[in-house]
Amino acid sequence: MAQITIVYYSETGNTEAMASMVAKGVEAAGATAKVVSVDGFDAAELKEEVAFALGCPAMGDEVLEEGTMEPFVEEVAKFAAGKKIGLFGSYGWGDGEWMRNWVKQMQDAGAEVLGGEDAICCDAPDDEAEEKLVELGKKLAE
Ligand SMILES: Cc1cc2nc3c(=O)[nH]c(=O)nc-3n(C[C@H](O)[C@H](O)[C@H](O)COP(=O)(O)O)c2cc1C
Repeated sequence: MAQITIVYYSETGNTEAMASMVAKGVEAAGATAKVVSVDGFDAAELKEEVAFALGCPAMGDEVLEEGTMEPFVEEVAKFAAGKKIGLFGSYGWGDGEWMRNWVKQMQDAGAEVLGGEDAICCDAPDDEAEEKLVELGKKLAE
């Protein structure tokens, strides 16, 4: 059975909750979901995978979290060409700029970003966000 890895960074739990919703979609499609925090996770583990998901909230000033997630994403970008990647995350007060930039970064690296910048939500995921995240999980598992 296919396994889809979902790697996330989250400080207050919103993006972590989103990761569980992506996992729900993966499992609904009949695959196994592996949900892991980026802390201590080696990017090389994703190298041989065809599809995976990455989650990070808007941090700093419309950027990825800089201590752990940004260096991790830099590593992933090196082998992202040809991969199907789902990107998701929570934000507080912005307009999703961090996600637009992140999608572009991964597309420039040659990845297909499933759902583009769609899988974002303000603060905690509501029912509408859950629907999008479950859909994303299903697409990843296809
Ligand atoms: C240090 C810091 C910087 C942030 N910068 C932004 C930002 O630039 N734009 C934005 O919309 N939200 C920003 N936020 C809000 C978070 O993205 C928001 O609270 C999000 O829900 C946190 O997700 P988490 O619970 O997964 O950590 C920031 C929050 C913190 C703590």
